[in-house]
Amino acid sequence: MNAARDRIGSTPRLLVTGGAGFIGSAYVRDVLGRRDGTRITVLDKLTYAGRRANLALAEDDPEQAARLRFVHGDIVDPTVVDPLVAEADAVLNFAAESHVDRSILDPEAFLSTGVIGVHVLLEAVRREADRATSGARSSAPRFLQVSTDEVYGSVHEGWSRESDALAPRSPYSAAKAAGELLAMSYHATYGTDVVITRGSNTYGPYQYPEKLIPLFITNAIDDQPLPLYGDGLQERDWLHVSDHAKAIDHVLHHGDPGEVYNLPGEAQLTNRAVVAAILERLGKPWSLVRTVEDRPGHDRRYALDGTRLAGLGWRNLTDFATGIAETVDWFRDNDAWWREARSGAWDDYYRRQYSARLAASREA
Ligand code: NAD
Ligand code: DAU
Repeated sequence: MNAARDRIGSTPRLLVTGGAGFIGSAYVRDVLGRRDGTRITVLDKLTYAGRRANLALAEDDPEQAARLRFVHGDIVDPTVVDPLVAEADAVLNFAAESHVDRSILDPEAFLSTGVIGVHVLLEAVRREADRATSGARSSAPRFLQVSTDEVYGSVHEGWSRESDALAPRSPYSAAKAAGELLAMSYHATYGTDVVITRGSNTYGPYQYPEKLIPLFITNAIDDQPLPLYGDGLQERDWLHVSDHAKAIDHVLHHGDPGEVYNLPGEAQLTNRAVVAAILERLGKPWSLVRTVEDRPGHDRRYALDGTRLAGLGWRNLTDFATGIAETVDWFRDNDAWWREARSGAWDDYYRRQYSARLAASREA
């Protein structure tokens, strides 16, 4: 990896918001698992998608647990956020409502967390930077906003570069774009040390089973229909969660202030190809797949140019064939985890999202 200057030091105190979710918890497990002295406070609201169990591997290990603190709270609440930011060398904001289909059904929470929440974090970081300027603390905290390739909108050809215009097309991606723009405005106006990552579609263990890959794996395990939207020829660029987490950490330590970094997966596939890979690993038939009514405003294709990240010295470690096989096996071996996730309010969501679609479905 590149030997560029480390901008936050080797044993920082990190505030990780949304650290009980899919990618945030992978980040926490990975960083604590390095056993390099880094301390982490997780601030998480524990929405339907956030689960304390996602941190169990770290919390059950005494050496890691001593460097991990969990705070149950909301990033929109300054009384919770301010004292935590005051203790941090860097803030990594993973917290978000993250599912596009839910943003179509009910956008409000997306705006609250994605815009107001980001503002509350930025204000706290700005205050701490002022304290650093006045000598009340040794250095200003860095703010890393975890964003997404969806802010570019649907990319019909070519690969999105960081300088491309933002053209989000769902309430989810519009909220993510708003969060980014707010963060960049703090960099321009107040000199806040902001870096932004735009990751591509992420998959792997502990992903809440509403998203394509874990939904289709868990449905297929139970021989339930797999609801494929439209023609299934939409393209996504798949990034393994451990690579996503490690790339975020690389940008945190080495990224330039005020910069955006694409984090591509380098596995550009149609949804049909992804579903075929899942079924092959599980030994289940294609007849489970059903064509259903498309997602409104469905983005056809995302594709990221990774030149800037490569220039920072980062390379992904997991190829898609290996990653999808391990992911399928993880869900097959962790039945209790995903059955718990698919309980409670799950049935209502599933009915709302899929009942009418499946009733009118046809062979895929
Ligand atoms: P997730 O839904 O699994 O986890 C989100 C976490 O944030 C949960 O633990 C939830 O409890 C917490 N949270 C939500 N609102 C909160 C609030 N107001 N205050 C505190 N905590 C709150 O999401 P994920 O897939 O892990 O995504 C993490 C981040 O990465 C998001 O910002 C998302 O936009 C971004 N991202 C995701 C992907 C992907 O494919 N999953 C790809 C690129 C970027
Ligand atoms: O690209 C990054 C984004 O990837 C992240 O920012 C989001 O947080 C994350 O949810 C994801 O968004 P997508 O909308 O691309 O992911 P999802 O898993 O919902 O859908 C992937 C593709 O599969 C998309 O083309 C829609 C399709 N799909 C999805 C579901 C849930 C289906 O065909 N059927 C389904 O039931």
